[in-house]
Amino acid sequence: MKTIIVASQKGGSGKTTLVSHLAVEVERAGDGPAWILDTDRQGTLSRWHESREADTPQRADVPFSKLSAGLDALDKQGAAYCLIDTAPAISDQNTKLLRLADLILIPVRPSPADLWAVSETVEQVRDAGKPLLFVITQAKAQASITAQTVAVLSQHGQVAQAFIADRVPYAVAMTAGRTAPELSAKSPAANEIAELWACMKACFHEKKKTRKVSNG
Ligand SMILES: Nc1ncnc2c1ncn2[C@@H]1O[C@H](COP(=O)(O)OP(=O)(O)OP(=O)(O)O)[C@@H](O)[C@H]1O
Ligand SMILES: [Mg+2]
Repeated sequence: MKTIIVASQKGGSGKTTLVSHLAVEVERAGDGPAWILDTDRQGTLSRWHESREADTPQRADVPFSKLSAGLDALDKQGAAYCLIDTAPAISDQNTKLLRLADLILIPVRPSPADLWAVSETVEQVRDAGKPLLFVITQAKAQASITAQTVAVLSQHGQVAQAFIADRVPYAVAMTAGRTAPELSAKSPAANEIAELWACMKACFHEKKKTRKVSNG
């Protein structure tokens, strides 16, 4: 099982939206079973899941002190991916949590305030020593700040080629326990979520190749 942690100390950057949308996408793409886990006391992801009618993705309710054992149990019962939502804070809890990741996804809105906040998140992720992938979220059409954001983020690590745009269906779908691609399977949102998931899968494959090469 691969554990994907979506983290950013910046509030409102799109962590919960990405965890829910990606978990549904994992299942849609036939890459499941996907599980979600909410470690944020705000509980937004859990509320989304409670209002959801579909059976997948499944949600694990695990107290923080038992997370490592909880992930082992999910692995043993055949989970393919566990996507973990986190609170917007630099905390001991998040620092410990990040060490459990196979990949840390960091959403960043293309805005000066979000960019200034990125270095703190990056420092915390570096301490965990795990692969990271940035993803631009809530991007406005043709804004030059998006290109500037990519340039700055590239200095810290890999940036996903797929961008997530600012689109009303992302918010609307969540209030009904659904995701934007579930509202419209051929929409731009559906395309960009599928592209992002493809980028993330490629990250896992690249890692495997690197390990093989370094093993000789
Ligand atoms: N791509 C998008 N387009 C439009 N609205 C979005 C998009 N992504 C997120 N939002 C909206 O922005 C707000 C914040 O998103 P979300 O809750 O996913 O962020 P978060 O990082 O989990 O926030 P917090 O740090 O408070 O946990 C929500 O109202 C959500 O519906
Ligand atoms: Mg959230």
